[in-house]
Amino acid sequence: MTQEDLFKKLIAHSKEYGFIFQSSEIYDGLSAVYDYGQLGAELKNNIKKYWWEAMVRLNDNIVGIDSAIFMHPRIWEASGHIGAFNDPLIDNKDSKKRYRADVLLEEHIAKIEEKIEKEVEKGRKKFAENFDEAKFKETNPNVIRHQNKIADIQNRMNSALNSNDLDALKQLILDCEIVCPVSGTRNWTDVRQFNLMFSLQMGSTAEGANTIYLRPETAQGIFVNFLNVQKTGRMKIPFGIAQTGKAFRNEIVARQFIFRMREFEQMEMQFFVRPGEELKWFEQWKTNRMKWHKLLGLGDENYRFHDHEKLAHYANAATDIEFHFPFGFKEVEGIHSRTDFDLGNHQKYSGKKLQYFDSETGESYVPYVIETSIGVDRMTLLILSAAYREEQLADGEQRIVLRIPPVLAPVKLAVLPLLKKDGLPEKAREILNALKCDFYCQYDEKDSIGKRYRRQDAIGTPFCITVDHKTMEDNTVTVRHRDSMEQQRVAISKIHEIICEQVSFKNIFEQLMM
Ligand code: GAP
Repeated sequence: MTQEDLFKKLIAHSKEYGFIFQSSEIYDGLSAVYDYGQLGAELKNNIKKYWWEAMVRLNDNIVGIDSAIFMHPRIWEASGHIGAFNDPLIDNKDSKKRYRADVLLEEHIAKIEEKIEKEVEKGRKKFAENFDEAKFKETNPNVIRHQNKIADIQNRMNSALNSNDLDALKQLILDCEIVCPVSGTRNWTDVRQFNLMFSLQMGSTAEGANTIYLRPETAQGIFVNFLNVQKTGRMKIPFGIAQTGKAFRNEIVARQFIFRMREFEQMEMQFFVRPGEELKWFEQWKTNRMKWHKLLGLGDENYRFHDHEKLAHYANAATDIEFHFPFGFKEVEGIHSRTDFDLGNHQKYSGKKLQYFDSETGESYVPYVIETSIGVDRMTLLILSAAYREEQLADGEQRIVLRIPPVLAPVKLAVLPLLKKDGLPEKAREILNALKCDFYCQYDEKDSIGKRYRRQDAIGTPFCITVDHKTMEDNTVTVRHRDSMEQQRVAISKIHEIICEQVSFKNIFEQLMM
């Protein structure tokens, strides 16, 4: 199965089992906006819990807030979003389709990277066990030619983006002979800047209305509350403020399902430090955040850092944590050293002093900031795409299973009476009632036990508890494990412990603190 087929199947599966629906589907949908169904909402909540507790509970010096989406419009002038939160767009005159100029170039680079991979594969076949990939890449003339081409495109693109030279960006697209994927032509308009913020009117009458913006990031709600939290929480530098919440961007290229949406959710943490110490903290947060991802056990090889060459208007260092999605390595989280840009500008624009008195040094200063910023929806897609498997079983049957890490699985266990008689349903409900205060459980008595196991596999439930006639005699049940499909006979009194061991964040958190 190709990665593209896998992705299509994942989207269909997410809908079929109540994870993710197209927004406003009965009205033919709204582009790049999605709703989470009964299981998607559970999965998302578990992801947010994992993040929030790892930030706020494990770190004595990080607290969480919940700021409003509507904010004073001057905030977006101070943050630079009104002036600089733009994407360069280009239209194809024949297809009338609109693209992000930098995305067209990145996709072109990805195609050249695929050519390099094909050369490497050829080399691997030719030299078999004597194959040295690093040496091959350094010496093979075709690979070197492709690499030089990529380096040239990247240099020209970065320089055009950094200097806001839109003509140079268009020239690069023409020089690379990039064609519109729909019309197949190179009939491009000029490149223009497009602001990504949604605006709306606040006020009861149009005349008295004020234009405000839907926030494009949650970070600014943290910056404008910096002093409130520092003073009321008696926070000492270094300290962090975390929050999760909705953000909105009028994305030009909104596709790949929930990867790039117009309404999405972020989990952001701003860590305030002494000026001059920011790069040390930047490295620490890089390490901590990568560990948080890898502890979910989805394969260390699926993650990598991508350091930014083109820095955002507020940063002096930045990196992305990228994950191997079905459509390639893509950003899931950004870690940015934002300097004193935001607090400094809010101080200037609001006229209010946003300084911290450091009793250790006796100085007052505007703190520097390290930000960690991850999308909840992108993290949800990461989990679903890493978890989705079609497995061939020994008995010749096939199963679709979501190998979601048990700590994040929407339903932790299903209680299944083997038959709908002889008191088995009543016993099963008794077990369910004893467990449902601690775990999200399901009860299912319909169809054969095999079909019920398949249904639970398909939604990623780590445990199935089967109640049979033996249960009525000796108070034992069968616990069936999702991944190994192994079954063990245990006393009812042991179920809680077995499940807790797998679904509690405790084990992961202990390792994260090491
Ligand atoms: N405050 C910094 C900031 O917002 P960003 O790199 O623009 O930085 C951070 O966004 C994260 O938010 C991304 O790594 C991604 O996970 C998520 N994100 C950004 N735009 C998104 C979109 N249109 N749809 C879904 N997630 C998005």
